[in-house]
Amino acid sequence: MKIVVTGVEGQLGFDVVEELKSRKYNDIIGIDLKDLDITNQSAVNVFMSHNKPDVVVHCAAYTAVDSAELNKKSCYDVNVNGTKYLVESAKKLDAKFVYISTDYIFSGDKDKEYLVDDIPNPKSFYGETKYLGEIETLKHSKHFIVRISWVFGKNGNNFIKTILKLSKEKNKLNIVSDQIGSPTYTYDLSKLIVDMIETDKYGVYHATNEGICSWFEFAKKIFEFSNIDINLNAISTNQYPTIAKRPRNSVMSKKNLIANGFKPLPSWQDALKRYLKEIEVI
Ligand SMILES: NC(=O)c1ccc[n+]([C@@H]2O[C@H](COP(=O)([O-])OP(=O)(O)OC[C@H]3O[C@@H](n4cnc5c(N)ncnc54)[C@H](OP(=O)(O)O)[C@@H]3O)[C@@H](O)[C@H]2O)c1
Repeated sequence: MKIVVTGVEGQLGFDVVEELKSRKYNDIIGIDLKDLDITNQSAVNVFMSHNKPDVVVHCAAYTAVDSAELNKKSCYDVNVNGTKYLVESAKKLDAKFVYISTDYIFSGDKDKEYLVDDIPNPKSFYGETKYLGEIETLKHSKHFIVRISWVFGKNGNNFIKTILKLSKEKNKLNIVSDQIGSPTYTYDLSKLIVDMIETDKYGVYHATNEGICSWFEFAKKIFEFSNIDINLNAISTNQYPTIAKRPRNSVMSKKNLIANGFKPLPSWQDALKRYLKEIEVI
């Protein structure tokens, strides 16, 4: 099985390649912007028809949520057009296609967990482009759409690395406590993605680590596990204005995952502990 993975210099793509290697796949083509700009349609076509993958795991994206509001064209080009070109070529080759999506496709206004067939209503431009990327992906029947949230992985920047760095510069941190969600460890998610591509259980899935927390609760655990004594102050979203709106409730139901026989990911606390070991904080 020949597998193309996009976005390998980012958090998730990097770990997907590691997982594939550990399972002895030997025909893996990992690419990032320097190898192929996915917004270049003819370059995508040439690359795909030359390599003829059986599977595409599409992890590349424009992920800077606030910058996206100011650079709409770049964000749209990568998240919508880039996805469209890859899906079209995958369809021609009859290759399986994994699209990584996000909790940002939902408004976050619901009081219960989001189900896979709840109607998307993104509040940010990034969320809108990721939803349009889903629509492009649905045009090819051999799709896995995997919605994730609050991602952390070894290779790249994330909330955990940011607040650990800030704790070295400040003795008090303000953290938002009225947005809730579920963190996703790319190491755990990569195992699930590889499990998925070994099946033909196509569809839309939510896949995060188990459990729910606010950013404040997440931060508290990060410092507790890291043995760092710091003063954490819970603040509201209104006290921390950002260019792009964030969903208040990012909690997504994993029922579909379980119904299709996939193993849910471990709890976020368990994932966090392993991650802090992986990045040598503990
Ligand atoms: N991070 C999160 O919290 C989060 C939450 C929910 C869903 N997701 C989704 O999960 C997936 C993986 O996220 P991640 O955190 O691993 O992303 P990431 O670390 O930002 O990596 C994305 C990679 O895509 C590359 N890329 C950007 N534009 C490209 C282009 N035109 N052609 C080829 N490659 C390009 C980036 O390169 P440059 O760095 O050079 O731009 C980067 O290496 C994405 O689909 C994202 O939307 C992420």
